[in-house]
Amino acid sequence: MDEKKSKVLIIGATGNLGYHLAQFSLKFSHPTFVLVRDSAPNDPVKAQKLQSLSNCGATLIKGSLEDEKSLVGAVKQVEVVICSIPSKHVLEQMVLIRVIKEAGCIKRFIPSEFGADPDRIQISDMDYNFYLRKAEIRRLVEAEGIPYTYISCNFLTSYLLPSLVQPGLKTPPRDKIRVFGDGNVKAVFVKEQDVAAFTICSMDDPRTLNKVLYLRPPGNVYSMNELVEIWESKIGKKLEKIYVPEDELLMKIKETPYPDNMQMIFIYSAFVKGDHTYFDIDSHSGAEGTQLYPNVKYATISEFLETLL
Ligand SMILES: NC(=O)c1ccc[n+]([C@@H]2O[C@H](COP(=O)([O-])OP(=O)(O)OC[C@H]3O[C@@H](n4cnc5c(N)ncnc54)[C@H](OP(=O)(O)O)[C@@H]3O)[C@@H](O)[C@H]2O)c1
Repeated sequence: MDEKKSKVLIIGATGNLGYHLAQFSLKFSHPTFVLVRDSAPNDPVKAQKLQSLSNCGATLIKGSLEDEKSLVGAVKQVEVVICSIPSKHVLEQMVLIRVIKEAGCIKRFIPSEFGADPDRIQISDMDYNFYLRKAEIRRLVEAEGIPYTYISCNFLTSYLLPSLVQPGLKTPPRDKIRVFGDGNVKAVFVKEQDVAAFTICSMDDPRTLNKVLYLRPPGNVYSMNELVEIWESKIGKKLEKIYVPEDELLMKIKETPYPDNMQMIFIYSAFVKGDHTYFDIDSHSGAEGTQLYPNVKYATISEFLETLL
């Protein structure tokens, strides 16, 4: 593996995942640059994050994806660019891709994905182009010949797991639980900090060049029936399972207006269609994070559920 620590630009470091990416970049001794929009320091939470990153050695650069000149200045200082902007804005990376191409100094680009693999999902007819936009960015990166790694981490633990996959709830149920489909299809959850650690490990690694880094850590891949079992063992009580068959879930998705139905669409994708796990990882186009980086200590689902007791 390349011993030299690349200089990294992180776009989106005041956000949820982006902050952890910047923290781990610094923790793993990468010279770390953070693109900061004008408005961010006015928000006390974001200002605190920026202060903390700066205290740890990050260089803050004023700029945004809307300001091409600022992007050129920032990209020219680094060798790796990681973007972690929200999914609804991913097409705004088009200008970034053009800047990266013209700068010619970037040896790895990690675009904003951090979910299920947009080239593998089986729900593209119903997701309001959520994954199509991410796939479009992939095609552009590849057409421009920009070296890349795509991070396919599946669900972040803060998404859906705090409610044990119950739309509308914030905490896991202790009496009755809805189980979608037959409850036997496995999905993947990975904690934000762990996604960040695996991402930073991958960005200088020749084994992940022009590949998808999938995260399927042992202890983090479970069906809904298994999740319920783990939770029951923790609370020392059996739950009443209410099975919601596929056609009923599809009907609920149809009846619920966008974007309120997106949670159910992601549940359908992961726990009914099996979009996180239905395919084997092809070693020509992908690699699995825990196999490449066995030393990264990650939180298991069982450990995460322990924190909800
Ligand atoms: N798999 C999952 O379960 C899951 C769940 C949630 C998110 N995600 C993925 O994680 C990634 C990041 O999402 P997030 O929820 O962490 O995002 P977030 O918390 O909303 O943070 C967004 C960040 O992007 C920055 N940003 C937005 N537009 C920008 C622009 N035009 N120029 C520069 N910076 C811009 C924001 O800056 P300001 O502070 O200046 O606004 C902020 O730092 C996305 O790819 C998303 O799909 C995955």
